[in-house]
Amino acid sequence: MEQRMKSFFSNAFAIAVLLCSAGLLADPRSVNDGVYTKEQAKIGEALYTQHCLLCHDKKYFRPVLERWQGQPIGVMFTVMSASMPESNPGFLSEKEYADILAYILSLSRYAAGDSELDYRDGVLDEIMVEARKK
Ligand code: HEC
Repeated sequence: MEQRMKSFFSNAFAIAVLLCSAGLLADPRSVNDGVYTKEQAKIGEALYTQHCLLCHDKKYFRPVLERWQGQPIGVMFTVMSASMPESNPGFLSEKEYADILAYILSLSRYAAGDSELDYRDGVLDEIMVEARKK
């Protein structure tokens, strides 16, 4: 009996650790939580002007972000970095795509914050796209 209790607890513990590391117990964040910096959006703006403006004016992304609502921004990042610019897919570095994404968020007037939008460690998969909170 005692042995079974022990293994019950160690299993429960292992499952809790798994859930935590999968981020399932972490606080869900969204694009409303200040997930990029103003400086990053500035860098993104220059890259955007050089590589994206030709085909996408500044109004293009607002409806795009609306369509992505309810999904992690990491999915949009993956699509964008794999397929854009259409004339030269994947041309930019991941850091540069993240900077452009920061600029795209600023265009839709999501608030900036204290830390940069980071493309590493699956962080983008834990940030949900949602309607801007006023
Ligand atoms: C040569 C033209 C061209 C350039 C340059 C270009 N795009 Fe695109 N982009 C397109 C086309 C065409 C589509 C698909 C049709 C549409 O939705 O307008 C598209 C679609 C997209 C989408 C998907 C929209 C959705 O529905 O989810 C995103 C995001 C995007 N582009 C971002 C970028 C970014 C960021 C850059 C610069 C790094 C860029 N594009 C440069 C032509 C271009």
